[in-house]
Amino acid sequence: MGRQSTQNVAISTGGGDAPGLNAVIRAVVLSAAHVYHWRVYGIRDGFDGLLDGTPLIELTPETVRGILPRGGTILGTSSRGNPFARKTIVDGEVVITDDSHKVLDRLDELGIEGMILVGGDGTMHIAHDLIRLGGRIVGVPKTIDNDLACTDVTFGFDTALHTATDAIDKLHTTAESHHRVMVCEVMGRNAGWIALNAGLAGGADVILIPEIPFDIEHVCAKLDERNSRGAKFSIIVVAEGAYPIGGKPMYLERGSAGRASRLGGIGRWVADAIAERRPIEVRSIVLGHLQRGGSPSPFDRILATRLGAAAMRLVAQGKWGRMVALRGTEIVDVPIAEAVAMPKLVDPEGELVRTARDLGVELGAG
Ligand code: F6P
Repeated sequence: MGRQSTQNVAISTGGGDAPGLNAVIRAVVLSAAHVYHWRVYGIRDGFDGLLDGTPLIELTPETVRGILPRGGTILGTSSRGNPFARKTIVDGEVVITDDSHKVLDRLDELGIEGMILVGGDGTMHIAHDLIRLGGRIVGVPKTIDNDLACTDVTFGFDTALHTATDAIDKLHTTAESHHRVMVCEVMGRNAGWIALNAGLAGGADVILIPEIPFDIEHVCAKLDERNSRGAKFSIIVVAEGAYPIGGKPMYLERGSAGRASRLGGIGRWVADAIAERRPIEVRSIVLGHLQRGGSPSPFDRILATRLGAAAMRLVAQGKWGRMVALRGTEIVDVPIAEAVAMPKLVDPEGELVRTARDLGVELGAG
């Protein structure tokens, strides 16, 4: 692929998958073809694919036909492929190298004008660093965690919320039948958006989020209170990043250099802590990656489609370094630098938390 009169843009999906990624790819490809007459090339498996020399695939309206309702990403993704700290195995040893310049060189060699990066917090940080090296990038925010700043919502979140709410509804009937406490651990990294929203939508009795460290005695007192009113069962929704006052988030495994890498285990911890303190039958469940799967909800399909079309608009205008975002009812664009400055967390004093408290939901503290 040398330089041609038609301009070329590449698209990559990075980080954990989220329902709606294919809708973005489709929107970019269709609008590039119909309005701008740009060629779109897909990078496979995030930055790893680009650096491994995996050939790019040309994406046409024909190749994206039928992908709108599909979960996952037709391009593949990688949660670990940071080109600034790329891990490779040399002679059986893990070697970490900064291959960021190779990303930009490869795109130049391929005659790619710029890149649309669809990703969450980690991918947007990489985008920001590549832009500082001269990278021509437009960002599209995605994550089921909804923790990316500068956008009201990220696509993927609504679908994950449906999955979590459906699970909580199902747990209710079995909890009630058996007079049990059911603890449901949901994803969200260090943000409580999925837990708080799914907890409210599913009518949970206790919701524990990372933004409000909890006291297990408050949780037990809530169970006592329900018990005294004849409710012999309770539903507890716990964000994977939640932790007790004075404690820290729990991790399942350690990553490179001993750094904590996978959150998990707090649901089980809460269940055990209740069982130690009260003569109640408690069960815990981890929803895990179910929340990332499935067909995107109509809301996520529409949001992803709008963001994809808006990203291609920015590409055609040469407005690099920007991220498309939802503000109120409008799609806007913001500097990627702003989006990565701070994560978007639940405000412990905010209206959503206030609503939960007003309804008597126990948040574990205060
Ligand atoms: O960021 C999305 C997310 O699903 C988080 O909610 C979760 O902590 C993490 O990714 C899990 O990552 P992995 O798929 O690498 O286990």
